[in-house]
Amino acid sequence: MNRPYIICHMVTSLDGKVTGDFLGNPECVAACETYYEINRNLKSNGFICGRVTMEGSFTGGYYPELSEYEPVRHDMDLKMDFILDDMTGFYAIAFDPKGKLGWKSNKIIDPDGDPGYDGAQIIEVLTEQADERYLGYLESMEIPYIFAGETEIDVELALFKLKNIIGCDTLLLEGGSIVNGYFQRADVIDELSLVVAPIVADKNDKPLFTDSTLSGFEVVNAKIENGVTVLNYLKKIKELDEEQSLINKIDYTIKYIWENKIKEDYNNGWLLKEDTLKNAFYFHLRSILGDLLDKNDIRVFTEFTDEKFKGTGYRPDMVIAKVNFDSDDSYYENYITDCLAVIEFKYKQGFNSSNDIYEDYKKLHKYVDNIKINCRLYMATIWEYEDDETCWEPENSQWASGKLTELNASYKRNSDEMNFYICEH
Ligand SMILES: NC(=O)c1ccc[n+]([C@@H]2O[C@H](COP(=O)([O-])OP(=O)(O)OC[C@H]3O[C@@H](n4cnc5c(N)ncnc54)[C@H](OP(=O)(O)O)[C@@H]3O)[C@@H](O)[C@H]2O)c1
Repeated sequence: MNRPYIICHMVTSLDGKVTGDFLGNPECVAACETYYEINRNLKSNGFICGRVTMEGSFTGGYYPELSEYEPVRHDMDLKMDFILDDMTGFYAIAFDPKGKLGWKSNKIIDPDGDPGYDGAQIIEVLTEQADERYLGYLESMEIPYIFAGETEIDVELALFKLKNIIGCDTLLLEGGSIVNGYFQRADVIDELSLVVAPIVADKNDKPLFTDSTLSGFEVVNAKIENGVTVLNYLKKIKELDEEQSLINKIDYTIKYIWENKIKEDYNNGWLLKEDTLKNAFYFHLRSILGDLLDKNDIRVFTEFTDEKFKGTGYRPDMVIAKVNFDSDDSYYENYITDCLAVIEFKYKQGFNSSNDIYEDYKKLHKYVDNIKINCRLYMATIWEYEDDETCWEPENSQWASGKLTELNASYKRNSDEMNFYICEH
C-alpha cells in the first residue's frame, strides 16, 4: 500500500454526530476517557486533524504577525516541501490548506492535558493557497510542511508523501467531521474505531463524515466498556482486496485476542506455561474466526511442519494456512498452499529466562532468511518479570521490518499487574 494505513478513531453520539458541545456533558465523561485510553493503545506514527480541530484543541486561535517573516519563494509549479533532518517520533499532522494555524512551538503543547498528544512533532499539510510569509514563519519555527494540492488538499497525494517522505505506516484520523469526510470520499479509511457516547446530539452538530458517499464497513468487534459502546469496523472487502482484507482481519483478531481474551484468561488463572497459552489462543481464534476460516478454506495448525519448515530445523507453534481441498494428494500436509500467519509462543518467568525468549526470535528470523516466508510473523510472550513496554527486537531490525508483530506481556513497574501490549515492526 503506497500510503499509511488509516484508522479513523472518534467519539460519536448515539445519532452519529461528532461535533458540538455534547462531549462536555457528564454522560460523556466515560466515553472521553475510553477514547483516550484506546488512543494511547492504538499503535501509530501519529494523528491527523482538520484545521478547525487543531485550532480548538491546541492553538486556540493564535496567529503570528506574518509581516515579521521573510517570504519563502517557491516556483509555483514546484512547491518544495520542508522536512527536518531528524523526523522520527510521533506526529501531529494538521490539514491546514491555507496556513491558518499559529503554533508557538514545533511540538504539541496540550493545554487540556489530554493524554497521548503532548510533545508530538507538528507537520503542516498545505495547498498553494498558503502565504509565502507563512512558510517563512513555519521554517523559522522548524515546523515541517508538505504541499498537496492547489486549493483543496488532495488526500491521496498528502498520504503518499506522509508514507514516502516522512515514513508513516499507520496514522489515526481524529476529526473533525469535514476532514473525515475528505478521507471517506477518497476511500482511504481502512478501519473505524468508534466510542459511542450515550447521548443524542444537537441538530446543528455534524456527522462522522461531512458530505459522505456510500461505502461499506464490516463490524469486527463490539463491546461495552465503562458504560459506553466501543465498535471496530474494517473497510468492506472489495473483489481486488479480498486476500489483503482477509489478512487484515486475521491480523486484527490476533491482536484483539492478545489484548483482551488472553489478558482475561491470564487474570482468571487459565494460563500456566506455554502449552496453555497456545491452547487458549487456538480456542479463541477458532471461536472468533470460525466462520471466516471455514468459508475461505483457512485452517489453524499447531506444531506445524512441512517440507519448507523441516529445512529450518524448527516447527512453528502455530500456523494459519490456506488449504486446497481439491488436491488428491495422499497426505493432507500437501493440501496446504500458503501460510497467512505464523505464531510462536513463550511463557517464562524471571530475568534469566530472557535468553530462552530470544531463541524464538531466532526461529522467526530463520523463517524469513532461509525459507523467505512471506506472511506476518507473531511472537507472543508472557514474561513474568517487570518491564517498561519495551520491544524484544530492536526497532530498526531489518529482518523484522514490515513482518513481525510482538504480542508482549510483562509486569508493570512496582506492580503485580500484567501489562498486555503490542509492538509492530
Ligand atoms: N467527536 C470526536 O471524537 C471529535 C474529534 C475531533 C474533533 N471533534 C470536533 O470537531 C469539530 C471540528 O470539526 P469540523 O468538521 O468543523 O472541522 P475539521 O474537520 O476539524 O477541520 C476542517 C477544516 O480543515 C481543513 N481541511 C481538512 N481537510 C481538507 C482538505 N482535504 N482540503 C481542504 N481543506 C481541508 C479546512 O480548513 P480551512 O477552513 O482553513 O479551509 C476545513 O475547513 C470541533 O468541534 C471538535 O471538537 C470531535
